[in-house]
Amino acid sequence: MDQGQPTPFNRQRRQLLGCVCALSVGLPAAASAQDAGTAAAPQVDDLLGYAFGERAGQPVGVDDLQPGAQQIFAYAIDASSGQLRNGSRLHQLLLVRLDPATLAPETAARSVNGVVAYSGVCSHTGCDVTDWNADSHRFQCPCHESQFDPGDGAKVVGGPAPWQLAALPLKAVDGKLAVAGSFEGRLGFQQPGLSPFGI
Ligand code: FES
Repeated sequence: MDQGQPTPFNRQRRQLLGCVCALSVGLPAAASAQDAGTAAAPQVDDLLGYAFGERAGQPVGVDDLQPGAQQIFAYAIDASSGQLRNGSRLHQLLLVRLDPATLAPETAARSVNGVVAYSGVCSHTGCDVTDWNADSHRFQCPCHESQFDPGDGAKVVGGPAPWQLAALPLKAVDGKLAVAGSFEGRLGFQQPGLSPFGI
């Protein structure tokens, strides 16, 4: 069932494209090449929408996420245009739902009913963080197996990633997930030259 995750084919393609796109991060010309409306960072009160699949662009409900299930990908929705703010990969989000009682205090403060949101771009070489360890409840990056703990600020708990994933505060609006604040932490990644594709 389509829950907003990339298919295996698309995941590999996205990893490659992601690393290619990642090369442009930080270059002044990159932003001007993107749509100004959709490349903007998530804004407070934006709803979150599915990034991929049959429900792409539709708002994500709090109860769409099952506790402990694999993360889904989302972007903020520009309220004025109804478009996903998907012009920059750095604003791609991972959503996952955990037991609220297990969340670290700072993480709990950013969550809604156990749902937490983080940047979906690995801080190592910029791959999409697509994998999920259902036993340990950790995100895992498929490129070099860095692991992140979403219950504790997406801190790095394994692998070469140099810093935790940036966190996005959430709230609920009529049962839908919405943005409650700006990204907290560092967006982006360290070394695109280390991608497994030789880029
Ligand atoms: S890009 Fe994620 S571990 Fe290397």
